[in-house]
Amino acid sequence: MSTPQTFSALQVMQDAPVIPVIVLNDVAHAVPMARALVAGGIRMLEVTLRTPQALACIEAIAREVPEAVVGAGTVRSKADAQAAANAGSRFAVSPGYTSAVGQACRDAGLALLPGVATGSEIMMAQEDGFTELKFFPAMQAGGPAMLKAWSGPFFDVRFCPTGGVTLQNATEFLALPNVVCVGGSWLVPADAMASGDWARVTALAQATHALRK
Ligand code: 3PG
Repeated sequence: MSTPQTFSALQVMQDAPVIPVIVLNDVAHAVPMARALVAGGIRMLEVTLRTPQALACIEAIAREVPEAVVGAGTVRSKADAQAAANAGSRFAVSPGYTSAVGQACRDAGLALLPGVATGSEIMMAQEDGFTELKFFPAMQAGGPAMLKAWSGPFFDVRFCPTGGVTLQNATEFLALPNVVCVGGSWLVPADAMASGDWARVTALAQATHALRK
């Protein structure tokens, strides 16, 4: 088998305007959900490590949907990073930042989008060499105004705002020069997943392309 292509955090962010944040409760949903997003033109998929089935879902997508690039979200510890990599994740996203998580992702060969919500957290992530960051929770922690304020002192940092982002307010985030993409769970609604309405997931993915910067 050929070695899978590796992606930097910036490449993960630049692939599409939105990184879908996915919560999977049933392994049977993983592959059709991933195929539906790929059919809608979205291949960077963040599967959150917040259900018991998440790692098995990542494994299934990595094995059966080669067009997708599956990553792990909600990575909070060294163990999470290792488990995510072992399951076939190609990148990681964390809700906050610690040097231990940053180092564990490096050791596991995973590009990391570290979560930050304050200037001090940005500085800690930058000290460890991370300059592409997730702003989380974006709406609750200040929204576009916060990113505008950060663009002065943190002129060399680029963000993926996530948390409270919708198709409607994504435009305002994506218009900012320090925003590369946004993250959001709206592409994979729980009810569409439960009813197997994969056409709706594809349509939601397709709708995000109008947001392209
Ligand atoms: C999360 O980690 O839960 C994401 O930030 C998703 O937030 P959203 O549901 O508001 O898109």
